[in-house]
Parts: sequence; structure tokens; C-alpha cells
Amino acid sequence: MELNDLYRRVIMDHYKNPRNRGTLNEESVTINLNNPTCGDRISLQIQVIDGKVVDAKFTGEGCSISMSSASMMTEAIKGQTFEAAIHMAEKFSALMKGEPVEFEELEDIEALSGVNKFPARIKCATLAWNALRKGIESENEKQ
Ligand code: FES
Repeated sequence: MELNDLYRRVIMDHYKNPRNRGTLNEESVTINLNNPTCGDRISLQIQVIDGKVVDAKFTGEGCSISMSSASMMTEAIKGQTFEAAIHMAEKFSALMKGEPVEFEELEDIEALSGVNKFPARIKCATLAWNALRKGIESENEKQ
């Protein structure tokens, strides 16, 4: 897979020094998800207060794309309302469709834009975001 150099460096930095890797206390919402095509998995935990994601951590095993995406995603959603977090998940889906999307102060995420040229890897990049959507959906259903 050929990604441009800068993007590759950003991805490898998140892969080797993941942000928010770890676990939260057991009152947090836990979402386990795997990528059926390869078996790689993520366990995402979000701490929710009043419809806001106040903290997020993840564990799991996967390729550099899936794990770096989880690192970037957890950074992006901390402190966000559900609405804002879902809005970001939608922006990320648009990025994976090759649409020109900007993440402003979270520009690291744009490093994954090149993945849209490799359809098999899109599932890697969206794994963490899908876990987030699932977590928020289940929280919304509880209310
Ligand atoms: Fe499994 Fe990327 S190859 S998540």
C-alpha cells in the first residue's frame, strides 16, 4: 500500500505511540467489535455523562491502520456531545468515500484519507468509528 510519506509518518506515530490506549472503569460503556475480514478486534470504552463522551480508551489488536485510527478517533471524541461525535463519524465516512473533508484541529485524521483508494483497508480504518457509533446508539436506546 502506497500512502504519501507525511501521512504514513502520522499513521505510524499513532500506531507506535497510541493515544488513549488502556481501559476505563467498569461503569463505562464497553463496545467490542471485530473486523470480520481479518479477525482483528477493538474494545472501546467510553465514559458518558449527560450525553457527552467525557473519556475514551481502547485496547485491541489490529493492523497499523485500524489501531492508528482508534488512537485518532479517541482523541477526537473526548469531551464531545453524542451529536458532535456522530457528526465526526459521518465526516470520517465521507473521507473514506474520497470526499474532501477537513478535520480542522484534528488534522491527523486526514492522514487516513489515502486509505479510500484501498477498499479492503476501509474496514480497518472504520472499525473504531463503527464501535463508537454502536456505543452511542446503545446509549441512546437506553434513554
Ligand atoms: Fe485487520 Fe486491518 S487488517 S483491521
